[in-house]
Amino acid sequence: MHITTLLASILTLVSCTTAIGQPSTLTFSEGGEGLKLASSGLAPTIVLDSKEWPGVTRAANDLTNDFGLVIGTKGKVVTGTSSIGAAPAIIVGTIGKSAIIDSLVSSGKIDVSAIKGKWESFTSQLVTDPVSGVASALVIAGSDKRGSIYGIYDISEQIGVSPWYWWADVPPKKKTVIFAADKLKVQGPPSIKYRGIFLNDEQPALTNWINQFYGGKYNSNFHVKVFELLLRLRANYFWPAMWNSKFYVDDSKNGPLADEYGIVMGASHTEPMARADKEKVKPWDWNSNQNNLKKYMQDGVTRAKNWETLWTMGMRGDGDTASPTLTAASLTSVINYQQSILKSTLGVSDLSKVPMMWCLYKEVGGYYQQGMTVPNDITLLWSDDNSGNIQRLPVGNELSRPGNAGVYYHFDYVGDPRNYKWINSIQLTKTWEQMHLAHDKNATNIWIVNVGDLKPLEIPISHFLDMAYDMTQFKTPDSTGTWLKAWATREFGAEVADTTADIMTQYGKLIIRRKYEWLNTNPYVLSTTNYDEAESHYQEWVSMVDKAQSAYDSLDSATQISFFEMVLHPALAGKTVQEVYYKAALNTFYAKQKRMSANTMATEVRNAYSQDQAIAKRYHSLLNGKWNHMMDQVHFGYTYWQDPGSNSMPGVQTISTNAPSTGPVGVSVQGSANSAPGDATPPMLSLDPYTPENRTIDVYARGQGTFQFSITPDKTYVTVTPSSGTLSYPSGVSDIKAVIDVDWSAVPAGKSTVSIVVKPSTGNSVTLSLPLNKNSVPEDFKGHVESNGVVSFEMAHYTSKLPGTGGASMEVIPGYGRTHSGLTLMPGNAPSQSTSSGAKVSFDFYTFTSSSSAKVTVYLPPSFNINPSAPLKYAFSIDSGAATSVQPIPGYNLGSMPSGWSDSVVNGAKVVTSTTNISAGKHTLNLWALEPGTVFQKVVIDLGGVKQSYLGPPESVMV
Ligand SMILES: *[C@@H]1O[C@H](CO)[C@@H](O)[C@H](O)[C@H]1NC(C)=O
Ligand SMILES: *[C@@H]1O[C@H](CO)[C@@H](O)[C@H](O)[C@H]1NC(C)=O
Ligand SMILES: *[C@@H]1O[C@H](CO)[C@@H](O)[C@H](O)[C@H]1NC(C)=O
Repeated sequence: MHITTLLASILTLVSCTTAIGQPSTLTFSEGGEGLKLASSGLAPTIVLDSKEWPGVTRAANDLTNDFGLVIGTKGKVVTGTSSIGAAPAIIVGTIGKSAIIDSLVSSGKIDVSAIKGKWESFTSQLVTDPVSGVASALVIAGSDKRGSIYGIYDISEQIGVSPWYWWADVPPKKKTVIFAADKLKVQGPPSIKYRGIFLNDEQPALTNWINQFYGGKYNSNFHVKVFELLLRLRANYFWPAMWNSKFYVDDSKNGPLADEYGIVMGASHTEPMARADKEKVKPWDWNSNQNNLKKYMQDGVTRAKNWETLWTMGMRGDGDTASPTLTAASLTSVINYQQSILKSTLGVSDLSKVPMMWCLYKEVGGYYQQGMTVPNDITLLWSDDNSGNIQRLPVGNELSRPGNAGVYYHFDYVGDPRNYKWINSIQLTKTWEQMHLAHDKNATNIWIVNVGDLKPLEIPISHFLDMAYDMTQFKTPDSTGTWLKAWATREFGAEVADTTADIMTQYGKLIIRRKYEWLNTNPYVLSTTNYDEAESHYQEWVSMVDKAQSAYDSLDSATQISFFEMVLHPALAGKTVQEVYYKAALNTFYAKQKRMSANTMATEVRNAYSQDQAIAKRYHSLLNGKWNHMMDQVHFGYTYWQDPGSNSMPGVQTISTNAPSTGPVGVSVQGSANSAPGDATPPMLSLDPYTPENRTIDVYARGQGTFQFSITPDKTYVTVTPSSGTLSYPSGVSDIKAVIDVDWSAVPAGKSTVSIVVKPSTGNSVTLSLPLNKNSVPEDFKGHVESNGVVSFEMAHYTSKLPGTGGASMEVIPGYGRTHSGLTLMPGNAPSQSTSSGAKVSFDFYTFTSSSSAKVTVYLPPSFNINPSAPLKYAFSIDSGAATSVQPIPGYNLGSMPSGWSDSVVNGAKVVTSTTNISAGKHTLNLWALEPGTVFQKVVIDLGGVKQSYLGPPESVMV
């Protein structure tokens, strides 16, 4: 190929969006350069060799259909070069399998040196006179079976057929003309060798759908759909559903079908030797029933020996649990036996070419830690904690084992601390952070992710598999946003791509705060009194739904369906669950304050709860019930890890409409639950020119009727809006929130007090006292400013940073964590850093309060010490003072969880506090992540003013 075309393909890599992140080689307007492949009434002929892999021929038939979907004319597949005809030709074949391709190579018409012998790679290029009678053809050469298949589906994706065209109803993007440009494309090998999904926790949603549409079995008709999706997503590996299914037995066509398609079959960590859990012999005990267990394993190898299989090694106890009798020594004999039957049955003398994995899941990691030796050719499959936090990654000589390592990850789970399997609850920036680390730490042989019912998790699945296919597109922490835009462009079009990316970034931030199943805690976790926290959280959901709704409204009706399934539904259904719990919390809170709106909240909780069912109905009615039963997982009313039998609404109360004797108009303020008159006058929180929140006064009806009120400050530089109004219950406005505004230029310097009288038409007045504190920072100061004894920092807003040793630097992860952004050490295999020369970030800040016991609170993710001998560690210092180093996660044994794990997983954050001495004035906070994998979400300095909240105080004002 010529240098110029190579350059052209590199250039398109930057701008392309049609095949996510990969170079485009097709154009879609009349008069395009290169070979016209299709136009109205014209579709290409796909030319294959008669000896081609059946899976490649099958994918070629899909491509002819795909041309039909976008151009209106179906292409056709021909075998051999004699009957190509006049239509434009696409010649596809696998090196060493296709005589056509091999002769193009030997005649020098194509150069495959860049891919020959490589795993799952392909080239595509225009070739002049490829075979006699054909002037020009698009030639796709695969290095192996899947290389050719990915080359075919690459064309499908580029012409406008999404991998999700069936599973998420993405409409094909119609074209009037399609040209293949004269560009060489070389793609592969993938970053991760085996990449796939695990269908699991599939009852009731996926299984009831299977019952309705596939006759009650995970049969070959169903797997056709799954395998095609996986190949279009450029995955190659699959763990089948196993709760009540037996892949190879339920339908004898399943095994050969996977092999024909080109899917490498595996099985979960608890199902050795290509056998299903449900096929297990009893008692499942290596010590007492060894001969029967051996036969079970031997039969599995015999059954699957002719199909491409990644063998699951080792064993666990019965039914996905720890074995009571297994020891490291007996597990060694299990694995030795398994390797011996692989050798004898597959007829190989060494196993270096036979893919095998041993999953260090739960207790199994413990055997490894006890020093169990594992044959070098078996991939060590490290697991996350079932909640998206990888427990361990390769260290020392594990980095260069021949069998390498991989990761078993979760987007769905049944178990402790609580199930999550209803709808998407994944923050993509977190997936990026964890999998990027795994990649940098050489866990690159297998990535497999538990995807539950599959259907709710289209976006996380796409993201995960795109990373696994080509990590070079995901090198930087902002890659998640870039990917989201490219993904949304492919599925819904460029017009809504930016909005969709914003919505999903926002969605990730809101859902990482707490999963739906965990909202069922009493009291509500978000504060209804401090920092307007509960209200702001709910408003963020509302504004995200508004955005999603207007994007939906702008789309054509076919695209609306897929947008609903993947974006609007999770936003809307998620917001509705939030609404139920938020308003139930307000119902309790308002009832104590004797606010009539407690009753309004009770009604709104009931409405939102029935809205939840209406949204499920809407989903089930799409496309005449195509997705009936999906999203049926129980999501309300959890009391422990396992789901309750059905949804239940949180309790609400209604209160009497008789006003208290002190009067029908009540007054309350932020930071206090008191309702005056009656309760003690609620103390107002101080306000200064740098306070990040508004100060507000709530005035509300505490009885039936219509009441007037006025709010009057005794100083002209304080304005309250509204300053008067009418409250009415049951009809009309029963509550108002008045906002205080201060003209600081007129306020006397230092501390002062303003009286604010709330006077109702009936009942006693309330005199509030608003403390003001007019202070100021020096004019040349830039940075975060203390207000009310708090300095709060979001990670992207640092003042400066310095690189560290070994090419390390601190990098912002936009959209990461619960509130704004993250900061982490890059690359993931950076050496340990020190506070003298390590990568650091600094935040300038200004305090008015001094404290010798100031608290520095660091919000971290619930990450693990992935390298036990170099546990996660960070350090901070104030100015040039001594640095304080903190190891946030104590030491622990593999196979058990570190202390505090459950709380941090539930909260989406591990909160660690240290004490330091800070004087009033200008300062710098220095932060170091001393080990890769350490991530900061937020930092708060408490000089005595921090109030109880879930997410921490809002970010300080920056000047
Ligand atoms: C990572 O694994 C590859 C083989 O997959 C090996 O070539 C490389 O040296 C390993 N990296 C380290 C740091 O050992
Ligand atoms: C403060 O109140 C004003 C006026 O109601 C509003 O525009 C602004 O968004 C509020 N700011 C915050 C942080 O809530
Ligand atoms: C805190 O720092 C101030 C000045 O920076 C110093 O005067 C004071 O002794 C320190 N207090 C403690 C408890 O270290």
